[in-house]
Amino acid sequence: MTIPSPSASTPRPEQAPGAAAPRRAPHELLGLTSPAYGGDYNPEQWDEATFAEDLELMAEAGVNLVSLGIFSWARLEPREGVYELDRLVEIVGRLHDAGIAVDLATATASPPAWMATDHPESLPINADGVRLGLGSRQQYCPSSAVYRERSAALAAALAERLGEHPGVVMWHIGNEYGCHTAECFCPACARAFRAWLAEHYGDVERLNAAWGTDFWSQRYASLEQVAPPAAMPTFPNPAQMLDWRRFSDHQLRSLMETEARVLRERSTRPVTTNFMGDFPATDYWRWAEALDVISDDSYPDPADPAAAHEVAWAGDLMRGLADGRPWILMEQAPGAVQWRRRNSPKRPGQLLLWSLARVAHGADGVLQFQWRQSRQGAETFHSGMVPHAGRHSRTWEETVATGRALQRLGPVLGEPVRAEAALVLDWESQWALSTAIGPVEVGERFEAARAWHRSLWEAGIATDIVPVGRRLDGYRLIVVPAVFIDRPELAGHLERAVAAGAQVVVAGPTGVVDANAGAVLGGYLGTLRPLLGVRVTDHAALTGPIGQGDPRGELVNRLSRAVGTPGAETWTGLEAISEPLRRILDRMGTPTPDLRAGGWAEEVRIDGATEEAAENTRAGRGRQTVEVVAVFDGRGGGADLAGRPAITRRTAEGAGAGWYVAADLDVLSRAALLTLVCAHARLRPVVADLPDGVEAQRRGEVLFLLNHADRVAEVSGVVGTDLLTGQACTGHVILSPRSALVVR
Ligand code: GLA
Ligand code: ZN
Repeated sequence: MTIPSPSASTPRPEQAPGAAAPRRAPHELLGLTSPAYGGDYNPEQWDEATFAEDLELMAEAGVNLVSLGIFSWARLEPREGVYELDRLVEIVGRLHDAGIAVDLATATASPPAWMATDHPESLPINADGVRLGLGSRQQYCPSSAVYRERSAALAAALAERLGEHPGVVMWHIGNEYGCHTAECFCPACARAFRAWLAEHYGDVERLNAAWGTDFWSQRYASLEQVAPPAAMPTFPNPAQMLDWRRFSDHQLRSLMETEARVLRERSTRPVTTNFMGDFPATDYWRWAEALDVISDDSYPDPADPAAAHEVAWAGDLMRGLADGRPWILMEQAPGAVQWRRRNSPKRPGQLLLWSLARVAHGADGVLQFQWRQSRQGAETFHSGMVPHAGRHSRTWEETVATGRALQRLGPVLGEPVRAEAALVLDWESQWALSTAIGPVEVGERFEAARAWHRSLWEAGIATDIVPVGRRLDGYRLIVVPAVFIDRPELAGHLERAVAAGAQVVVAGPTGVVDANAGAVLGGYLGTLRPLLGVRVTDHAALTGPIGQGDPRGELVNRLSRAVGTPGAETWTGLEAISEPLRRILDRMGTPTPDLRAGGWAEEVRIDGATEEAAENTRAGRGRQTVEVVAVFDGRGGGADLAGRPAITRRTAEGAGAGWYVAADLDVLSRAALLTLVCAHARLRPVVADLPDGVEAQRRGEVLFLLNHADRVAEVSGVVGTDLLTGQACTGHVILSPRSALVVR
């Protein structure tokens, strides 16, 4: 086996025009010499003796960064306008003396009781009109004047006191914006929504046109009549919903941006706020523009066999948000969380393995929630680096082992991941898709994008995640999964990429609506039609069984028993027309080497040619511009689509091509198709022919081999030094279960 090095000639995709000024890497901004290691630190929950012990334990574990004060507003401003910062300043100083840097929170995530009691209008109202009460956290309305004023004032007070303290290396604004309260339906939010609409549309007639208010007599005579989409008798207007989501995102983001501005006016330290992976309510592409460091909270479930994919997915996304630069893992659980119905602990070795996996996907820091497991409150049973049992525990041993390992990874800092595959992710499309009424109900979590990313990850292909606006030069493969809104800018970037030789795979439903959630007319795919040479003329969703009732009805129901219902199936059969694809399926060794899709299919027409193209390709009558790679074969729910194109490929002048996938391929079919596409793209895995369970990623010259499996793995052709142990690798290496090698 040989381990190919990344092709040095591949240029980085250029920075998007208009993006924030180039950011510096976190290790430069934070002055790190090895990856950041530590966790949320909440000393206000403990006494002085415990604080003193914490300093010793942090040294033992190799902690070099803590996030301080995230939930300490009630201590810092015990009465409105009265600040008591001395204890915080003392703690920062003592941490600094102990060599531990501080990511200092603005502490605005959970307002104190006085805000709720003295300003009850600051509490959020949910869609049912219920005002949410005090006693947990994040109980603020994002439009509340008093919350806005007091949070900015607290950030200012902290920055004035500690903004240039040598122990403070970064600002941690708020905490997980929108995690609990992502929208609010109070009168202040209604007013702010109208102001936002006025700014966007200018006058009510433009809003009427954009929202299509002639439907169901929804016309507004003035913007004053427009309200947030709170509880209503039936389906809301999808355009109103889409704008509401944009507004709610904007409203939260403006809180973060206000604090960032206040801090930057008083402090030279970089700012971050902790993201939550692909959290649905917030368009992180926009949030990222306002931040100096991208950081993420990530809690894969140890009971999920695909948990390591969650690590990869979130890591690739954060690297994309950081525009290719490293990012910081701000939170992971050292062991179990407490907020699932049942909470599995991490398995032995998994804390270090997943920490290294984060680094492999671009993290230059690994922090946990939290340093010391709480003794009281809602998170009493959420693990901490220092567990209830104290030092005599597996959690503590693994905490120390992880810290020691990370200390050896200085050479990785700042090193880039170089991927030649990209996956396009668009929050607004996800909003439009999940608020559309029909054709199928979908979840909020980028299901299609995750599925395609997972197939690439399982195949060992390094993948970047990019927004619709970014130029795509230099990528060999670009996947566009369910980008529901037609994005002319994306179409332009894809056309240029294909002209330069890239393989572009578009999977439906894509290009179905415009930016106001109105249907694209003349065939879906919109501005992508020239690239793909096809248009989608209808959707064909399968419902699965709809509950026919008593099977004995078959004996007597003479009329209905004769009716065919392919729509009640759960799968659709596809036939591979392309010979190479048939061979790939054969090699995959399934009992029936067939293609299958799940509950989604589309009726596709080939543009500029006729459906004879399929026949021509089948009959080998010369290469058509649009090749039919697979057709629906009539099995399962595809009865009425039999013979129609399901996967097409339009070749362009260069070697590039635009593939269209008109069904939600099952996992095997997706893998088979990607094998074919990667062959066209001349795209290879980071390391070929690895044993089951072993993931490879590369940062610069450093190779990460991550054995997620329960068994020992042997890999040959590995040459260099294992940074974790200092030992030489001279070809054949052995990885114990749930362990990693970091080789340079
Ligand atoms: C989130 C929060 C933390 C903590 C953890 C628990 O990530 O930011 O304060 O509640 O969840 O998993
Ligand atoms: Zn509100």
